[in-house]
Amino acid sequence: MDVTDRIATEQVARPRRVERLELGQPTSDGAGVKLLRVLTQPLQRRLDPFLMLDNFRSDDPDDWIAGFPDHPHRGFETVTYMIAGRMRHRDSAGNEGLLEGGGVQWMTAGRGVIHSELPEQSEGLMEGFQLWLNLPASDKMRAPWYRDFKADELPSFTAPGGVRVVAIAGRSHGIEGAVTREGTEPLYLDLALPEGARFEQAMPPGRNAFVYVYRGELDIEGTRVGSGRMAVLSNAPGSDGVALRATGPARALLIAGRPLGEPIAQYGPFVMNTVEELHQAVADFQAGRLA
Ligand code: FE2
Repeated sequence: MDVTDRIATEQVARPRRVERLELGQPTSDGAGVKLLRVLTQPLQRRLDPFLMLDNFRSDDPDDWIAGFPDHPHRGFETVTYMIAGRMRHRDSAGNEGLLEGGGVQWMTAGRGVIHSELPEQSEGLMEGFQLWLNLPASDKMRAPWYRDFKADELPSFTAPGGVRVVAIAGRSHGIEGAVTREGTEPLYLDLALPEGARFEQAMPPGRNAFVYVYRGELDIEGTRVGSGRMAVLSNAPGSDGVALRATGPARALLIAGRPLGEPIAQYGPFVMNTVEELHQAVADFQAGRLA
């Protein structure tokens, strides 16, 4: 839904700089889906509360046809954003949904979900992202939650400069995104920028933030960030936001959140605070008690 008529201005006087650039790592997951892992495990502490970002994009069915058959999750949230293609989701809580171009699926695994994510096409382009967002220790064993948003159910608007913004989570230009979360307070924006356009987003310096460019190139305070690259933004005290400029037509994700500052223990699809809790998750899964 377009809410351009309701937007407020964002003002940024001291934008963040790029602290480091990361190139997505080619890998495969599920039953052999080829993807780029943009946010990898060594960055989990730096980008707390985010645990992973994957980007898949291919028109070769061999790269995605096997999908992600039944597998468990515990302790965090998964956010899947489809740019193109069709994926069917089914889970142990009885939820089922078809994810299509421009749509978002937000799943809070909490104490446990077993689900499958399988392509519902045999040819054509499959493109999208999966972000893993951590849960605070106090919420890791909460009941699972799930919601699908079709493209037209996501708030979207045209920001000054002609930048198209899809507000998946958090608040931008006075607009509340589709999902809000206490604790981690995630901001998740998809930006489509015409050549030369500038985009500003106010943000306190304590938030961990990054930009992933997936078309074209951005200039972030003098650093060129090309397609397939993630820019980790500095948390310099006194900074008040993020400012991006497109050197040509570009698309990018701007993602930020409030760090939890809690221990992170991960074993594959389980993310808890301690090794003991991971052992418990594996034991629960093996005993059929996870979900
Ligand atoms: Fe999954």
